[in-house]
Amino acid sequence: MTRNITRPTRAIILYDSKSSGGSTDRFIDAVGKNLAESGLYVEKARCKENGDFSFVEEFDLVVMGAPIYYLLVSSQLFGALSRSNLKQVLKGKKIALFVACGSPEPMAHLLYLPQLKMNLENPVILAERVFSTDQLNDPAAAADFVGQIITAYERT
Ligand SMILES: Cc1cc2nc3c(=O)[nH]c(=O)nc-3n(C[C@H](O)[C@H](O)[C@H](O)COP(=O)(O)O)c2cc1C
Repeated sequence: MTRNITRPTRAIILYDSKSSGGSTDRFIDAVGKNLAESGLYVEKARCKENGDFSFVEEFDLVVMGAPIYYLLVSSQLFGALSRSNLKQVLKGKKIALFVACGSPEPMAHLLYLPQLKMNLENPVILAERVFSTDQLNDPAAAADFVGQIITAYERT
């Protein structure tokens, strides 16, 4: 007898934050929980600028983001994108981006999200979102983000 076993979609959340257990950490956990409840296999990894990101090749979907500090994407994620093999392994990946910040959303779209996008080659961007600190702490915001990601993933 042959069995047709389909493996679940694999999602990796790549993030950084200067605060441990801060609003970004809680948001990441809420995003991960929502992805898992949608049937995905989920892992998360806090980025290091000198990390080896070869393991990202194993994943079908990448959620990536970080807070803004002093106008810049948190340094370990930004450093990983510009100095490690992360940019290489993200080539052509299906990816959802977010930044967390205190600035108004239009400013964040103009100044902060491009700091992530300029380091991506040929990505399939499923979602790109800006979250305020209040939204990071709102379970509905994480659920809405994941809904957008899943819908876009299923369309691609
Ligand atoms: C030291 C510091 C600098 C910040 N600089 C900025 C900034 O330049 N622009 C902005 O929009 N938000 C800025 N913020 C707001 C943070 O991006 C926001 O509060 C974020 O949710 C913090 O995430 P965390 O709790 O994981 O550290 C700053 C926050 C801190 C603590």
